[in-house]
Amino acid sequence: MSLQNKKFLIIVTGSIASYKACEIIRILRKEKCEVQVMMTESAQKFIGKATFSALTNNEVLTDMFPDTPKAGLEHIEHALNMDAILVIPATANILGKVASGIADDLVSTTLSVCEQPTLFAPAMNYRMWQNPATIEAVDKLRNRGKLVLNPEVGALASLHEGEGRLPEISDIMNGIRELFEISLPLKGKKVLVTAGPTREAIDPVRFVSNRSSGKMGYAIAEVARNFGANVTLISGPVSLPPVPEIEMIKVETADDMLLAVQNCLVADQNSIDFLFMVAAVSDYQLENIEQQKIKRSKEELNLIFIPAPDILKSINGNIQGKTIAFALETENGEEYALRKMKEKGADYIVLNYANEQGAGFESSTNRVTVFSKSGKKIDLAKNRKDRIAKQIIEFVLNNE
Ligand SMILES: Cc1cc2nc3c(=O)[nH]c(=O)nc-3n(C[C@H](O)[C@H](O)[C@H](O)COP(=O)(O)O)c2cc1C
Repeated sequence: MSLQNKKFLIIVTGSIASYKACEIIRILRKEKCEVQVMMTESAQKFIGKATFSALTNNEVLTDMFPDTPKAGLEHIEHALNMDAILVIPATANILGKVASGIADDLVSTTLSVCEQPTLFAPAMNYRMWQNPATIEAVDKLRNRGKLVLNPEVGALASLHEGEGRLPEISDIMNGIRELFEISLPLKGKKVLVTAGPTREAIDPVRFVSNRSSGKMGYAIAEVARNFGANVTLISGPVSLPPVPEIEMIKVETADDMLLAVQNCLVADQNSIDFLFMVAAVSDYQLENIEQQKIKRSKEELNLIFIPAPDILKSINGNIQGKTIAFALETENGEEYALRKMKEKGADYIVLNYANEQGAGFESSTNRVTVFSKSGKKIDLAKNRKDRIAKQIIEFVLNNE
C-alpha cells in the first residue's frame, strides 16, 4: 500500500528545524498527496509562508482570526477532511499545549478538534526534551494513541550533543506509513539496489550499452522503501525519475558501478541486509578508449573488448546480508540462472527472459522465476514490474 492520493495537514511549529518540513512536503507531493500547511506564529519567524505555499500550491493557514473572517471555523473544518495530521517539527510548547488541552491559537485549536491519526516529530534542545513536563506530555499523547517519534541523537543547533534533533526524514516517512497501518517488514533494514545499464565508452561521443531501462531495479528500490527500508540505489544511465526518499548514486560504466558498490559496502561496514543486483552491467569494455572522436573512413573498424569487472563475483556473498542476483537469459534459463547463483555466491536468483513479449528489458511488465540457494522456487506470472518487485521481496522475506 502506498501513500498516493492521501490528504495531509502539515503543522509547522517554531523550531530551528522548521525548514526541514519542506523536504517531507516535497516527498509527499511527489507521491501525489495533497498537502495543506498550517503554521504557528513562531514558525513564521523561522520560515516564510511563501515557501510552503509554493511547495503545496495551497494557501497557508496561520490565523485564527483573519482580517476577513471566514464563516464559522472554516479553517478547522478543512482540517477535519484530511486523512492525517503531521506536526513537523513539534516544539516542546506544542507537545505541552496539546497534552494539556490548551487551544489558544489556530494550530492548538485545530489539534484539539481533530481526531485523525496524528504524528509529532519533535525537535528541541536536549534539556527541553528531558524536561519532566515534556516527558509527561509525550506520555500523555502516546497514551491517547498519538504517534510521537523520538528525536535523533546528535549535534543540536545549540552546539550541544544530545537527543533533540528532528528525526531522520526516512524515520518520519516510516512513521507516516505507520499511521495508515502500512506494514513495514523492512523497517530498520539497509537495502542496496543496482539498476539500469552501464555504458562503456568507445570514444568521446560513442558508447556500447544494452537495452536495460532500469524499471525493475527502480521498482525493487521503491517497494523496499515502502516496506520501511533505508534504501540506496546505484543507477546506470536511465530516463526514469528519481525515487523519492532514497539515496541515489548515479554511475556510467561497469568500473564506476563496482566502485560505488564497494564504497557503499565499506561505508556501511558490510551491514547491508539485502543487496539486489538488478543492473545489467556490461560484460565487456573497450581495451582502449579513443581520446578523439573516431573519424568515418572506408576502412573496417575493429574494436577490442576485454572483460568488464564482474561485480557480483567480486562480492561473492561476502556480505552479512543476503544477495539477490538477477539473470536475464535467452535460452536454458533455469540451468544458467542456477549456475550463476552458485558460482557467484548469491542467496537468490531472479530469472527473466530477454526474448519474451512483456518481460525483460524495457517492458513495464515482467515474468520471472525466483530460486533460492536452499532449493525453493517460485514462478511469478506476468505482471507490472512494481507488483513483481513486491512479490520478489516477499518471497525473499518468507524464505530467509
Ligand atoms: C533560535 C530559536 C530556536 C528555537 N528552536 C526550538 C526548537 O528546536 N524546539 C523547541 O521546542 N523550541 C524552540 N524554540 C523556542 C520556540 O520557538 C518557542 O517555545 C515558541 O514559543 C514555540 O511556539 P510554537 O510552539 O507555537 O511554534 C526556539 C527559539 C529560538 C529563538
